Amino acid sequence: MIIYQRTTQQQEQNNLSIECIPPHIQHIIFELLKNATIPSLKTKTPVTISYYPHEEAPQEKVVIKLSDLGGGLKDESLIDKIFHFHFTTTPRNSKDEVNGFGMGLPLCKVFALFNQGDLKLVNNPNVGVDLFITVPRAKDDSVLSQG
Ligand SMILES: Nc1ncnc2c1ncn2[C@@H]1O[C@H](COP(=O)(O)OP(=O)(O)OP(=O)(O)O)[C@@H](O)[C@H]1O
Ligand SMILES: [Mg+2]
Repeated sequence: MIIYQRTTQQQEQNNLSIECIPPHIQHIIFELLKNATIPSLKTKTPVTISYYPHEEAPQEKVVIKLSDLGGGLKDESLIDKIFHFHFTTTPRNSKDEVNGFGMGLPLCKVFALFNQGDLKLVNNPNVGVDLFITVPRAKDDSVLSQG
């Protein structure tokens, strides 16, 4: 899977390739967008996605950052619970076929780990949530980026 990085200094597009199972990364981004969308609709704020080489291992890892300004976790103490399967704060009357199972974050973490990556959530109280997906960088960007 190939994603494109716009460098802030040079304002030019560089290819940045990652090595992972495409449906896994698609599922992760889908679930994280699902989580971010409802709070962001309430605050009428955008969800942003950016990506860049990992600061400490730029040749080995890529970070995909997904941020919202939907107000953050309802309670700071939730930080210890949200990666547990079946934990949800979705009210019973808001659950439907695709929302409110408490499966989103824990399954995304499993997929990230399975692909030799990781998933971390940073809560900015009363502001929003930042999700950092770390995935391995493709061994040979130049070959993959031509594909
Ligand atoms: N972007 C976010 N802003 C605020 N709270 C969030 C955000 N993402 C997750 N949470 C909190 O983490 C909890 C767990 O999220 P998770 O995705 O695992 O389950 P869910 O969204 O409740 O249900 P499901 O993903 O199965 O539809 C949510 O119920 C919510 O309280
Ligand atoms: Mg969810």
